[in-house]
Amino acid sequence: MNRATLDKDPREVASMFDGVARRYDITNTVLSLGQDRYWRRATRKALDIGPGDTVLDLAAGTAVSTVELAASGAWCVAADFSVGMLAAGRARLVPKVAGDATRLPFADNVFDAVTISFGLRNVAQRDQALREMARVTRPGGRLVVCEFSTPTSRPFATVYKEYLMQALPRVARAVSSNPEAYVYLAESIRAWPDQSELAHQISAAGWSAVRWRNLTGGIVALHAAYKAR
Ligand SMILES: C[S@@+](CC[C@H](N)C(=O)[O-])C[C@H]1O[C@@H](n2cnc3c(N)ncnc32)[C@H](O)[C@@H]1O
Repeated sequence: MNRATLDKDPREVASMFDGVARRYDITNTVLSLGQDRYWRRATRKALDIGPGDTVLDLAAGTAVSTVELAASGAWCVAADFSVGMLAAGRARLVPKVAGDATRLPFADNVFDAVTISFGLRNVAQRDQALREMARVTRPGGRLVVCEFSTPTSRPFATVYKEYLMQALPRVARAVSSNPEAYVYLAESIRAWPDQSELAHQISAAGWSAVRWRNLTGGIVALHAAYKAR
């Protein structure tokens, strides 16, 4: 089985992403009906970054999220523990670092902003990762978590759940280099906390003024917070 389970064993997760790396970007765009680009742009805007800022894009994968951030003029580094994903993004000219979200290879207080897109859901020790992100962010610095979430309308949530469990794995079989991984994707989205519960967990990990904004009817939510001065 070339996919992780909901235990999210780090070796299984890294190896699963190594397996999806080759066709990761195109599979995302197909499965999200092109919405992924809008979600990435919204993440950049929520971070409010620009020239002179130093930004960590954690769980950056192929660095597709990092290049969008770098379009702001900020200096952005991609970090991920799947060397296969980083290698698949080799043509993207941003600095890349191999590292685990729960033990970041950076000093304290070095980033103006830290962000993680579609990555936190895959980290077994979520609290530890949120604390590490706070450690490397300077006081007053910003966090934005972009992640799948819970649709706000109940009829839409029902249709979406069907899409996740039925259509998504079938489409992935046609497009992905590791379709099994997309069964994990559907399962992990369904098991993920809703907007308010995730906000609570981000606060509990030491971040201040946590708030969120829904995108695409709550399929995705952006959670933003500050590190206290
Ligand atoms: C769905 S991809 C997201 C990639 C990119 N941020 C994007 O928006 O497309 C999730 C990434 O999280 C990485 N990841 C999962 N757990 C991690 C951890 N503990 N430390 C570092 N990276 C991790 C995986 O290797 C994978 O590349």
